[in-house]
Amino acid sequence: MTTPQTASPLKVLFSREQIASRVVELGAQITKDYAGESVVLVGVLKGACLFLSDLARNIALDASFDFIAVSSYGSGKMSSGDVKLTKDVDTSLQGKNVIVVEDILDTGYTLTYLTKLLQAAQPKSLKIAALLDMPSRRLQPIQADYFGFKIPDEFVVGYGMDFAEQYRNLPDICILQEPGH
Ligand code: IMP
Ligand code: MG
Repeated sequence: MTTPQTASPLKVLFSREQIASRVVELGAQITKDYAGESVVLVGVLKGACLFLSDLARNIALDASFDFIAVSSYGSGKMSSGDVKLTKDVDTSLQGKNVIVVEDILDTGYTLTYLTKLLQAAQPKSLKIAALLDMPSRRLQPIQADYFGFKIPDEFVVGYGMDFAEQYRNLPDICILQEPGH
């Protein structure tokens, strides 16, 4: 599948090649940091599913997967700040090395909510891996332990990320431009 280039609201921000090589680096870093240990990757549905599947294949450790889902955006572009759990993990995280795998750290409301929730499960350790970090939009004091790319204040889609459930299967990360821009 190719990313539409002309007469399109989409502008490529990170190509599939750039994403792939950065994900290799993140996997190597995680492999080194947790040497001799096992990890549980907790993916935040749905946006992080492609990142989790690529990252996992670059982590040379015993790794298991779990998934959690929240809602906060509805179908718009702005976070409501009112995060709701729509699917909990279904394995015990007690005593485990948990890495929350998220597509984008934006206002920080979602990961602030999720880290509190996951901390209550008494993991051995809890870290955040976010593919994208948008520090200028942050409204909560939270940082990623691992991030792929820092990006400016733009709305992005592709590689798992959506606007109103569209564009998740684009292989590149694209800026979704407003009509007329
Ligand atoms: P936060 O709670 O504002 O940090 O937002 C986190 C969630 O909002 C992410 O899991 C994304 O699913 C979604 N989100 C935030 N910014 C964008 C964006 O630019 N494009 C697509 N989804 C986004
Ligand atoms: Mg999300």
